[in-house]
Amino acid sequence: MKGAKWFIFIGGGALFFSIVGAMIYFGYKTFYIEQERVEYPTYDYHFVLISEELDNDYWRLVEQGARRAAEEKNIFLEYVGPRKADNDQLLKRLDRMIATKVDGIIVQGVEGSEFEDLVFKGIENGIPIITIDTDVKTSMRSAYIGTNNYYAGQLAGEMLIKNTTGTQYVGIIMGRFDAINQQERVAGFKDAIAAVERIQIVGEKESNITQSGAAQATYALLKEHSRVTALVGLSALDGIGIVEGLQEFLPNREVYVSAFDLLPATTALIKDERIDGTVAQYPQEMGYESIYSMIELQQSELLEKEIYTPTRAIRKENIIEYGLDEHVKHD
Ligand code: BGC
Repeated sequence: MKGAKWFIFIGGGALFFSIVGAMIYFGYKTFYIEQERVEYPTYDYHFVLISEELDNDYWRLVEQGARRAAEEKNIFLEYVGPRKADNDQLLKRLDRMIATKVDGIIVQGVEGSEFEDLVFKGIENGIPIITIDTDVKTSMRSAYIGTNNYYAGQLAGEMLIKNTTGTQYVGIIMGRFDAINQQERVAGFKDAIAAVERIQIVGEKESNITQSGAAQATYALLKEHSRVTALVGLSALDGIGIVEGLQEFLPNREVYVSAFDLLPATTALIKDERIDGTVAQYPQEMGYESIYSMIELQQSELLEKEIYTPTRAIRKENIIEYGLDEHVKHD
């Protein structure tokens, strides 16, 4: 009897432990997820590019150029910006990026003391700041990379003088009244035509850097000044919007149209002879150069504070399908 008890006891124990063992084994197999070793890429620096408007085609070209340089030089690049152009939103992003202590900030310059104060704050925190596309000379930015906007405005003026005859009543459409690059372009344009009596400016409107805004501005100018014979757009989508506005409101009138930049739609309209000319900037090159300059700034001051990218007056006969490779060469 005693032997049978032992047998039950030992047998039961063995059974119990084998069940527990099996549970542990199969439980482990079922629920254990093998941890893969994740290799996080390491970057040399973390830079940020802040644009006037995140999804604007022109700024996407700036981003493209910057990304290419970032890949070449092992840089972690963040691209941020307001969804719709808005100085306060841009300044908020700049402030936030200073707080996150990135290695360098490339930002469109914004009018006003708030921008200057933030640039100062960045420098105090050891973060170099480069202005791109639009400069703020009164700030402590380490460098500016982009078009000489006054000169670009002059080019638009010279193009108008060269390609029109007789009295011209000009309507100007700018991206935004409070953008420094637009103010500089207007100043250059006005100085270029100042001595030419047959050319008169009749009005100025803003497009809010959108195509539909430029179409509406066209309508408003035509309504207020029925004599308009020339429309001059000063930001990237203005020429396209002017053509849209003319087609809708004055399809049969011959109006001289001058655009800015060479987005694909603008190129097509120049080929179609619906835009007479444009002032081309090189946004990809701006982005590309800004990364290389920012890398240099990590070690020393830049010798040149103002790095102007090319600007060209383009008409149908000298249209170019240009890309980044045309001008940029770095090792
Ligand atoms: C200007 C940019 C602007 C863009 C808008 C360009 O011509 O240089 O500052 O954001 O147009 O589409």
